[in-house]
Amino acid sequence: MSHRIHISECEIVIGKGTIETDPIVSDRDRGRIAVLYQPGKPEEVARALLDRLPRANLFELPDGEAAKSLETAGLVYRWLNGIGMSRSDTVIGVGGGAATDLTGFVAGTYLRGIEAIYVPTTLLGAVDAAIGGKTGVNVDGKNLVGVFSHPSRVVIDTLLLAELPAPIARQGHAEIIKAGCIGSARILDLYETDGPLVDLNEVVLEAVRVKADVVSDDWKESGRRAILNYGHTVGHAVEIAGNLPHGDAVSIGMTVAAAISHEILGFEGSERQKTMLAAQDLPTQIPGLALKDLEELVVLDKKRDAGGLRMVLLRAFGDPVVIHVDPKLISTAMVAAGAVVQ
Ligand SMILES: NC(=O)c1ccc[n+]([C@@H]2O[C@H](COP(=O)([O-])OP(=O)(O)OC[C@H]3O[C@@H](n4cnc5c(N)ncnc54)[C@H](O)[C@@H]3O)[C@@H](O)[C@H]2O)c1
Ligand SMILES: [Zn+2]
Repeated sequence: MSHRIHISECEIVIGKGTIETDPIVSDRDRGRIAVLYQPGKPEEVARALLDRLPRANLFELPDGEAAKSLETAGLVYRWLNGIGMSRSDTVIGVGGGAATDLTGFVAGTYLRGIEAIYVPTTLLGAVDAAIGGKTGVNVDGKNLVGVFSHPSRVVIDTLLLAELPAPIARQGHAEIIKAGCIGSARILDLYETDGPLVDLNEVVLEAVRVKADVVSDDWKESGRRAILNYGHTVGHAVEIAGNLPHGDAVSIGMTVAAAISHEILGFEGSERQKTMLAAQDLPTQIPGLALKDLEELVVLDKKRDAGGLRMVLLRAFGDPVVIHVDPKLISTAMVAAGAVVQ
């Protein structure tokens, strides 16, 4: 059985085996189909789609962040010209968040916008990058050029996601646990009860619900959407300073945010959160990273504004607040939480 969640015009389908059971393109006789895929497993998925969408054209993206460049977008635009795409045609992105971000960017800009469909093949891509309508490429900095543009459909196959290599899967678990901390007691229960054996179908569904809820309220950023940045202020700094994968860094960022939440809001869930993260093999500290390197990066974080540094903190699980925090408090909490060495 599959579940459907809607955000404005976008339908998100979640279930086991959806890649085989879902039509993917609702009206396949309508027009041309261009499939942009990452190498590796996503390529297999894209080629299997050809059995059902025989008229589709395939384009291989560079792997990882290399896909998210103006150069890659330019190559894809020219390829789309070459296959004669028109305004009523469809681009399908198959791969992790890098592939769907690029696909959304290309579809949102080509001919001033054509239909996009995402088939996310990483857990992080499924619960985060594919949901919410942000697309973009990296120009010097990350995601500095982009458009808000929803795909018409996101097809999430949790059987495919269950086969992910552990180091890739845990990046997604960090974002799902984050979704649990800011808005789903059910996610926290599932992770606490089942640890490494957590039911992907259930937690993915819940995490998509949380993001869809927040995003529908606040479609183009600012207000409530900011709560999705729980763990990300320190997380971004750690990601750069420690050269860590995003989810690992967010896991450390959440650990520090929980410690600060305890300090100024009396939050009591730090240990519970740490246990859930650790059960997914997510780090809660980075031995060897010096506090002074991290402090500089945290203060440089783009979420700072005129009133100081803005952070998402928790009064309790499910009760996030965005608060200005004194950077010194962050340093103290990073040491107290054991996230860094002094
Ligand atoms: N648009 C948004 O709102 C949003 C939100 C969060 C993250 N993002 C973006 O998403 C990107 C990160 O996403 P990601 O972690 O999926 O990265 P990614 O797309 O780079 O994928 C990570 C790696 O997993 C591999 N991979 C993909 N599917 C696989 C599979 N089924 N089996 C084995 N390997 C597989 C990829 O080839 C790649 O090497 C970043 O660019 C980030 O900026 C966007
Ligand atoms: Zn994130």
